[in-house]
Amino acid sequence: MRQILASLGALALSLIVTSAFAQSEFGSPEVERRIAALLRRMTVEEKVGQLVQYSAGAPTGPGTGRADYRGQIAKGQVGSFLGLTGAAETNALQRIAVEHSRLGIPLIFALDVIHGYRTVFPVPLGMASTWDTQLVEQAARAAAKEATAEGIRWTFSPMVDIARDARWGRIVEGAGEDPYLGSAMAAAYVRGYQGRNLADADSLAACAKHYAGYGAAEAGRDYNAADMSERTLRQTYLPPFESAVKAGAATIMSAFNTLNGVPATADPMTLTKILRGEWKFQGLVVSDWQAIAELIPHGIALDEATAARKALLAGVDVDMESGLFQRHLSELLRAGAVPESVLDEAVRRVLRVKFALGLFDRPYAPESSTGAQPKLDPAHLELARTIAERSFVLLKNEKVSGSALLPVSSKVKTVALVGPLADDASNMLGSWPGKGDPKNAITLKAALEQRMLQSGGRLLYAKGTEINIANDAGFEEAVKAASQADLVIAALGEDAPSMTAEAASRAHLDLPGNQQQLLERIAATGKPVLLIIFSGRPLALTWAAAHVPAMVQAWYPGVQAGPALVRTLFGDTNFSGKLTASVPRSVGQEPLYYNALGTGRPADGVDLTRPPANSAEKYVSRYIDEQNAPLFPFGFGLSYTQFTYSPLKLNETTVSARALNSCASSVRVSTTVTNSGTRMGWEIVQLYVGQHGTSVARQIKELKGFRTLVLAPGESQNVEFQLSRDELAFWNIDMHHIVEPAEVSVWIGPNSAQGQTAHFTISAPKL
Ligand code: NOJ
Repeated sequence: MRQILASLGALALSLIVTSAFAQSEFGSPEVERRIAALLRRMTVEEKVGQLVQYSAGAPTGPGTGRADYRGQIAKGQVGSFLGLTGAAETNALQRIAVEHSRLGIPLIFALDVIHGYRTVFPVPLGMASTWDTQLVEQAARAAAKEATAEGIRWTFSPMVDIARDARWGRIVEGAGEDPYLGSAMAAAYVRGYQGRNLADADSLAACAKHYAGYGAAEAGRDYNAADMSERTLRQTYLPPFESAVKAGAATIMSAFNTLNGVPATADPMTLTKILRGEWKFQGLVVSDWQAIAELIPHGIALDEATAARKALLAGVDVDMESGLFQRHLSELLRAGAVPESVLDEAVRRVLRVKFALGLFDRPYAPESSTGAQPKLDPAHLELARTIAERSFVLLKNEKVSGSALLPVSSKVKTVALVGPLADDASNMLGSWPGKGDPKNAITLKAALEQRMLQSGGRLLYAKGTEINIANDAGFEEAVKAASQADLVIAALGEDAPSMTAEAASRAHLDLPGNQQQLLERIAATGKPVLLIIFSGRPLALTWAAAHVPAMVQAWYPGVQAGPALVRTLFGDTNFSGKLTASVPRSVGQEPLYYNALGTGRPADGVDLTRPPANSAEKYVSRYIDEQNAPLFPFGFGLSYTQFTYSPLKLNETTVSARALNSCASSVRVSTTVTNSGTRMGWEIVQLYVGQHGTSVARQIKELKGFRTLVLAPGESQNVEFQLSRDELAFWNIDMHHIVEPAEVSVWIGPNSAQGQTAHFTISAPKL
């Protein structure tokens, strides 16, 4: 274990960014002068060209079939491309822009580098489950190094949409349901991608997406409307975007959805008032794929020209793929429907990003790396394995014959491995595998085979079924293998490409196909079953939670899936991941999230496991046929060791609202965490806050701090959190972001449902 920490330390040195690029670094006086000089020389068509982005690779949305790019680049009619990779390929187009267009303005090449480029890391929801911003930053840095070597200088990542509904397929792409954790993760990705200086050859411009409210799609159906109060928007959905901007994000992507009736791609409030006015964002805004054209079906434009005008005037600078800016902006300008100053400002923002990336000085990628799949960097592979290990969430680990099922006991001589995800390399790479190659992914079966061979044990493998079929012809073989084993490992779950990420919302949150039946047949053998769930969202595995002794949420772990799993299951390392999205008992509970408001009729103290027996049990906020609580709460995750928390200590029991608002005071709260078990382990210590007596109802609990401790058996560590204006202010009844007088409850604990608690008062100014 110490060795692991030491090698991680070495990795950290090379992949951690100490001081990141900031918004204030965009456009130095010298750069602004060069931009102004360029603008003076540009024709209207050349200006519009900077705002045009087309796909030159595999489409990631409805295709347009355009191919006449070379001519357009030579005329300065395109400013950026997405989807094209390879230094030779990108350089070939860049050469036309730089050497053959009138003004020689370089192109930017963009790609969805989401959870790795060649080295594929766990999906973002898995990375978030580490709660480790340094690991996430290192993964983003590694991805930036690999992608820039192949001509890419702009990634459409991180996705920082808060997702409170597991039906929404894109929950896999973000950090889950919490704005505090989501903000920390957003900044970590930006730092990692952008490095110390955007101009460095291995820096990628980050893009925080999808702005805004996309994760609140009604009923979890992708692209659907989002409707919420401005308070909820500011308090829950915007913080990760603001955090990305503060970390220096060079770009933002506008979303597909309507937000409170206004399509996000034509919303001046979010794109201009908040983003540029309040947050001082200096970079560019790119639309999502064809989102400008989609203003027509949204119903706020009857024709293409109106859609283009509305998007530009609202604050969108770059048109991804719809072609509407290219077709209509010049004419709109001549007709006086769009002021030239607005067009110039959009062009300025694009050029600022190009200057910041150093593209005017160094437009070409090094040609040493072209085409063929390079050998993966061993340091990146080690990082991928570490992150995977830390992303797994141990949901359940019950005793079987006197001892916990995991770690796998040396008495286990025969293991039966069943299920369609046990040996599926492509699925291990998850939802946005970049240029990852399944050949580089090690499956659970491959790693387990090696492990059993080393220990002289036996592995029986039977797939049992496919991910999504009704045919149970393979069941018998799986049951037969299970019957002969000391331990059965069932590798079940979703198909990453078709069931997670974009356009993959689900109305059912169970195991697809007949996997549930397979699991029941396996469990009926009476053999101890470990269920490993590979999925891009929390699944409502209520039956499994009641009938299977051990469960691990593995997400999609990336290239090192197998080794990471085997090392964790066999106890070479410990489990430490914690959920960042609540796991439901049934679909009907969705949207489901821990940081909900209370109600006037709370169900506290009512037994919700049975239907109401009287009016006191009935007229409370509840379901008559399901509990309110999730199957597993936000922040939950077990370990091979145990941690105990001492009662909390507060340095003050009263603090004035005025002192907090002026940042003159804060409250410090602490606990001592002890590893009371027998193994070394990581504990993610979580701090939650709730307030009463305020002008608006506040969430019962909100995460306001977290820290990871590494403790040897018997070791204790004191953890102190500071609660100041940042943690205690909220959007009050007048929509001011301030600290109000309140009674405050604080919890520190291992998850959102457990913990030690204490209270303090925020006092009102004396009259
Ligand atoms: C559509 C997706 O919504 C977005 O996340 C992605 O970046 C673009 N397509 C480009 O692939």
